[in-house]
Amino acid sequence: MEKIKIGIAGFGFMGHCHADTLKTIDEIELTAVADTNPEQLKDAPAGVKVFKSMEEMLKGADMDAVIISTPNITHLEMVEMAAKAKKAIICEKPAAMSVKEFDQMTAVTKENNVLFTVHQQRRWDTDYCIMKEVYDKNMVGDVYVIKSQLYGFNGYMHDWHVFPELGGGMLYDWGVHLIDQILNMVNAPMESLYADLKNVINENVDDYFNIMIRFKNGVTAEIELGTYYLTPKRAWFIGGNKGSAMIDGFAGEGKIVRTSHLLQNVPGKITMTAAGPTRSFGPAAPGLLVEEPLPQVNVSHRDYFLHFIRSYYQKEEIMIKPEQVRKVLCVMDAVRESAKTGKAISLEL
Ligand SMILES: NC(=O)c1ccc[n+]([C@@H]2O[C@H](COP(=O)([O-])OP(=O)(O)OC[C@H]3O[C@@H](n4cnc5c(N)ncnc54)[C@H](O)[C@@H]3O)[C@@H](O)[C@H]2O)c1
Repeated sequence: MEKIKIGIAGFGFMGHCHADTLKTIDEIELTAVADTNPEQLKDAPAGVKVFKSMEEMLKGADMDAVIISTPNITHLEMVEMAAKAKKAIICEKPAAMSVKEFDQMTAVTKENNVLFTVHQQRRWDTDYCIMKEVYDKNMVGDVYVIKSQLYGFNGYMHDWHVFPELGGGMLYDWGVHLIDQILNMVNAPMESLYADLKNVINENVDDYFNIMIRFKNGVTAEIELGTYYLTPKRAWFIGGNKGSAMIDGFAGEGKIVRTSHLLQNVPGKITMTAAGPTRSFGPAAPGLLVEEPLPQVNVSHRDYFLHFIRSYYQKEEIMIKPEQVRKVLCVMDAVRESAKTGKAISLEL
């Protein structure tokens, strides 16, 4: 198999991450990097050609594919240029600023018959893959609720991420990944969505959101992100009629909990708690709750590129499909609409 020659457009934070990952993959050769800021090119890897623009890189570099890791506002023009130059394209997320822009991208990539996918590598996150397996294999029975929570302490956005017109804010940032994970996990038609979107400490861009999506298969998913929670956590909860599964941490630490026997009635015995007497919410009787380990998975973001290579050589269908990316962008529109109006939005996507 011939090596795929790749160029990176935009050699900032993510461009450098890509270069580091590609170093570990024999089937890919990084041949070029381009950035409009010469400072960024100073530490380009040895032997890699550097260019001061995408246009120059497309003309001057030996490459089959391009990774677009420039700010969000530039993605459309970058995709158009790369498609017309007949390069396979991996575009950073969010692929586009709007559904309309994304439709322009898919049109130009189809016209030019080039492979077009988006770097939504969080489908290969350990915590997500564990929970997807729990869901896919019905490990907690029929699922009624899924919660995906991401809380941080570093509340302020930085660089271009503070400007809404450049595609800043957390919905465009982590929101894309978290919504994509849920849609890919549940994989069922959606019914409606209700969302809250706030600027807690950032003046111009969102830094908190809470999104509730009702799917037609009976699952309700809640996605909550706060950059200024001051209690960092990456948590998952899946509730089913045969148990619950929970994770706290990107490494996927957590458990499945079941009951040794499903109670048919609320026990007559009243438990006293610090908040007074209760029949339903006191501590469980010894032996009633049984814990099991979560399934193990062995995934990494490198797998995204290994999968890309197989798709490039047409050995595998691309996993991050344009129609899925479009659906996430439609959900993001509905999030903004619901947050603005304070109303639930009907979703027939
Ligand atoms: N998949 C992920 O997990 C992930 C993580 C972080 C960022 N991203 C995405 O990666 C992209 C870049 O984000 P970042 O945080 O690395 O930004 P960044 O500011 O660190 O890097 C962007 C680089 O692009 C360069 N640039 C700007 N306009 C250009 C142009 N027209 N041509 C060539 N270079 C240009 C800038 O000089 C800068 O070096 C964004 O779309 C962002 O959403 C994805």
